[in-house]
Amino acid sequence: MKFKDIRALATVQGPARTPSEKLSRRCYSVEDMRRMAAKRLPGSIFDYIEGGGEDEVSLRRNRSSFDDWSFLPKWGSVENLDLSSTLLGGPVSMPLTLAPTGGTRLFHPEGESAVARAAFEAGVPYGLAHLSTTPMEQVSAAAPGLRRWFNIEPMADKVELQALLDRAVKAGYEALLVNVDCRAIGHRERDYRNGFTAPPSIKLKTVVEGALRPRWALGFLANDAIAFPNLDAHVPEGELSSTPDMWRTLLAGSYEPTDWDDIRDLRARWNGPIILKGVVNPNDAAIAAELGINAIQVSNHGGRQLDHMASPLDVLPDIVDRTAGRIDIIVDGGIRRGSDVVKAIALGADACSIGRPYLYGLAAAGQAGVAHVLKMFAADMIRTMMLLGVSTIQELRAEGRELIRHSSEASFRSAFPEAAEPHLPFAELKGAR
Ligand SMILES: Cc1cc2nc3c(=O)[nH]c(=O)nc-3n(C[C@H](O)[C@H](O)[C@H](O)COP(=O)(O)O)c2cc1C
Repeated sequence: MKFKDIRALATVQGPARTPSEKLSRRCYSVEDMRRMAAKRLPGSIFDYIEGGGEDEVSLRRNRSSFDDWSFLPKWGSVENLDLSSTLLGGPVSMPLTLAPTGGTRLFHPEGESAVARAAFEAGVPYGLAHLSTTPMEQVSAAAPGLRRWFNIEPMADKVELQALLDRAVKAGYEALLVNVDCRAIGHRERDYRNGFTAPPSIKLKTVVEGALRPRWALGFLANDAIAFPNLDAHVPEGELSSTPDMWRTLLAGSYEPTDWDDIRDLRARWNGPIILKGVVNPNDAAIAAELGINAIQVSNHGGRQLDHMASPLDVLPDIVDRTAGRIDIIVDGGIRRGSDVVKAIALGADACSIGRPYLYGLAAAGQAGVAHVLKMFAADMIRTMMLLGVSTIQELRAEGRELIRHSSEASFRSAFPEAAEPHLPFAELKGAR
């Protein structure tokens, strides 16, 4: 065989012309994007994204719980496959949101504005962190049509709280995403070991890391210093560090223990939708529904706060039962593929939310990286639903429990096929016999 014959057999690809074309050829999963981000970022900053609290049991469980649920596809026609749905009464192109993440400009100089533009183009909402490194108004200007939510801590100082809420209304934020899992800051040992502070203090380690990651270092040095402009009223400039004192420092003068009364107070002050983020206890979910809260984000903060927590996916069926359609349910933690989203919807969630996956995209390739992650999620969901035999999100939610089984149910059922109760954990069923 001559060279020209071989050439005729091979398809020769020209060079990729756009960042998104380049990503389409190199990045087939969130894990691929994660590896690209690891190559771009200094180790301590990558670890800040990656890490969890204490022994990182919550973090690992978030991921492993998805493996415990298996699909039971049904045969039949799938027509006009459609991922669109509604959340808080408004449209979403797919049941996915971008979760709030503090310090985002540490990962890419365009930070939150790039994330907002990518979210808008993909038709999904974005929750901007209280600790965002871009002012909330600038994020609004970057993507005026974006469905944007503002993330806050419940604050005891009602004067400061009202000023912040007024600012959020003026800047066009549709909903409040209120944290109920940050009474203390998680013990993130990776950060302590790395001496991680934001902005990174200039230690020999940081200089060496920066020299090894020149693209990140140039972007970092050429742009505005990292600051937390939504907190201007609270925090002395440059005084943020990931230590247990951080929260007190951040909300100096305003942090005091808060409780359900503060949630009632927020409900009275804010006319738009409120989402409580960090609910995992089914009782709390039921209380939220009674208080007129519009949605909960079932979350253990990506395993970054309390360790040894239940995984959001595992508590989802109980939460769905307790709230009985009175409240929208968003789930986050460990969601890395469209098939994970499909599992959560099948178990009764209205949507899922992602944190680290879009940060990997941002760190690897800015806005194009976030857009690529969202594109992969959409493509995954379409393929998974097609293989599962469902055409719409509504159908998936309605029929989901027939299309998915927990591993404990499967093993129990094959051992005791006469058992009628479908959803109890294996241990409980065994005990009941
Ligand atoms: C780097 C980083 C910073 C975060 N900052 C915040 C924050 O400021 N407020 C908040 O409510 N959640 C924060 N989170 C948690 C996310 O909103 C979300 O709950 C979590 O990332 C979901 O898990 P996943 O990363 O496995 O998708 C942060 C997560 C990461 C990875």
